[in-house]
Amino acid sequence: MGDDRIVIDWDAARASNRENWEDRVPLHEKAYGISDLDAPDHLSSVIRTDLIALSPFLPGGTVAGLDVCHFQCHIGTDTLSLARAGARVTGVDFSPAALASAAQLSERLNLDATWVETDVLDARAAVTGDFDLVYTSIGTINWFPDLDRWAAQIAGLLRAGGTFYIRDGHPMLYAMDEDADELRLRYPYFSTNQAQVWDEESTYAGDGTVAHSRTYQWAHPLSDIINSLIGVGLQILRVDEGATLPWKFSSRMIEVPDGFAWPEAERVLIPCTYTIVARKS
Ligand SMILES: C[S@@+](CC[C@H](N)C(=O)[O-])C[C@H]1O[C@@H](n2cnc3c(N)ncnc32)[C@H](O)[C@@H]1O
Repeated sequence: MGDDRIVIDWDAARASNRENWEDRVPLHEKAYGISDLDAPDHLSSVIRTDLIALSPFLPGGTVAGLDVCHFQCHIGTDTLSLARAGARVTGVDFSPAALASAAQLSERLNLDATWVETDVLDARAAVTGDFDLVYTSIGTINWFPDLDRWAAQIAGLLRAGGTFYIRDGHPMLYAMDEDADELRLRYPYFSTNQAQVWDEESTYAGDGTVAHSRTYQWAHPLSDIINSLIGVGLQILRVDEGATLPWKFSSRMIEVPDGFAWPEAERVLIPCTYTIVARKS
């Protein structure tokens, strides 16, 4: 479905992606299990997983008391889970509908948060203050072409000694054919100057369709991701690759306790996620 690739101007690509994300908000409000957060101790499963990986690198092993900037916060379920874990949170997203939904949720849960509407590639200029942690996870850098500009926002927002954390779908996973009845390569692993063109009316969570189905996405190999962070002076503290992920990439994937995975015999063949922790000196 993302087999077509074109060279496209970033403003045009971003506008199309933004319309698509605006349309997904009401669908995700129904499908994300938001009411789970009404239980006072509940944290989203993404944040529960990420806090385990992240805490060894945090002062005192916790986000409590830290200033956290969450890139691509969507409807705020992960951002507010970080707030519930004690962080002072700023959620960044380019979708006004997502941020309105997040703001409504923070009021309902009585959790403080700041919401900033901006392209993540302009985040440093748009967000006030410096941060102990810049956090982003699950559905992130495939949405833009320029990792050097992305890494510059992270370095600009972090205080000296601050930590950066990302977990996302592995670029090797994104190179696979999601429709094939076996593991099969289909999309580029390496980045090109072209965007992958996707036309999908459905979304990964819940039923319903979007009016704006066209999105543009970019492949980024693991080396480019790591080198973009090194390039802005961050020290890489840890890189991990995982065999499960929180959404069903292919109908062949099987539900496992912490999400979805390929059939058992295939799990050693290919990574599903990567995690990187880095520090600003
Ligand atoms: C898959 S969601 C990631 C959120 C999180 N993992 C979750 O499920 O709540 C992707 C988010 O990135 C946002 N987004 C995509 N491109 C962006 C950009 N260039 N600048 C800021 N936000 C962007 C979308 O609006 C959407 O909220």
